[in-house]
Amino acid sequence: MNPNNKRGIKITGTGSYLPPLTVTNDDLAEILDTNDEWIYTRTGIKARRYNGGKPNYTMAVEAAKRALENAGAAAAEIDYILLSTSTPDFIYPITACLVQNALCADNAACLDINAACTGFVAGLDVARGLLYSGYNRILFVASECLTLHADFADRATCVLFGDSAGAVVLEKADKFFVSCMKAKGVSADEPVLYYKQNYEINAPFCEQKTKSYAQKLQMDGKEVYKFAVDAMPEAVKTACGEAGLTIDDIDLLIPHQANIRIVQTAAKSLGVSMNKVYVNIENNGNTSSACMPVCLDELNKAGKLREGMKICFAGFGAGLTYGAVIIEI
Ligand code: UT7
Repeated sequence: MNPNNKRGIKITGTGSYLPPLTVTNDDLAEILDTNDEWIYTRTGIKARRYNGGKPNYTMAVEAAKRALENAGAAAAEIDYILLSTSTPDFIYPITACLVQNALCADNAACLDINAACTGFVAGLDVARGLLYSGYNRILFVASECLTLHADFADRATCVLFGDSAGAVVLEKADKFFVSCMKAKGVSADEPVLYYKQNYEINAPFCEQKTKSYAQKLQMDGKEVYKFAVDAMPEAVKTACGEAGLTIDDIDLLIPHQANIRIVQTAAKSLGVSMNKVYVNIENNGNTSSACMPVCLDELNKAGKLREGMKICFAGFGAGLTYGAVIIEI
């Protein structure tokens, strides 16, 4: 094993926030031409949470408070707030600063990152770099309010998404860490999975005065599916190879919770038993970069995290971004 991979991270606390409003497939069937059987057999989703139209940052703050409490850390002891979201309430102020203000985490630097659904994996990699560049304790939050941006006229996509936030407190540790971050950039003319904000061009000296973009999340589901079933295993295999690990060395795989069929196909292609794969998609749906820290918090609360375990996080998302991180906890 590469000894350099020992510059790792310790997760000293986890937290999550799931909004109280549960929306089942049957609830959606009341407003859309859909049904529980179609959604469940195609995706493995039975229900998801909606934040009731409230802003995304409110979930981030709750998850962050819970992670700090679990870590036994005061907000003032955090020197960096890293926040992953692809559904911010504002372009700026950045969401990390809204969280900082709500927590009174006055000693923290703040940064938002957006790698779409791969955001938690990418953020672990970024957080590790920050820790080894001199920061001591990072609060890393992933918070996503997809229901504010889903297109409820598009039944093939809106049924997939829900809202949630998850957070971890991270410190440096002499533990194993390896990452493999990748991307397959798409053309702006055929972005596959995208969300553009609508705006009006009124700048002087411009010929074009108005431009209207799609205001809601758009997705070519089949293309994303095909990409995902190859991308996730590729990233996991590359990370293992780089670390001199075999797939059997991984104790637990936490994949992006997009679709149970994607997860099962990826696990099969890796030769990983589904017993080693954590999924909560049935009750939560796809909450983009927030899926994985919510999974982690559920595992933590259930007492299923043991010191020394090797956990692999593997994700994919718009961009198209993808990647895997393997950490020893
Ligand atoms: O983190 C974001 C990542 N995104 C993803 O992971 C999405 C990956 N893709 C997928 O999971 C799948 O492509 C979907 C679940 C989104 C769609 O499944 P599909 O097998 O690709 O379905 P489709 O879009 O090809 O539609 C098949 C049929 C169509 O009817 P016809 O043309 O065969 O008569 C659709 O109109 O299913 C119909 N359909 C629905 N029927 C009932 C599409 N959505 C629905 C629906 N309820 N909600």
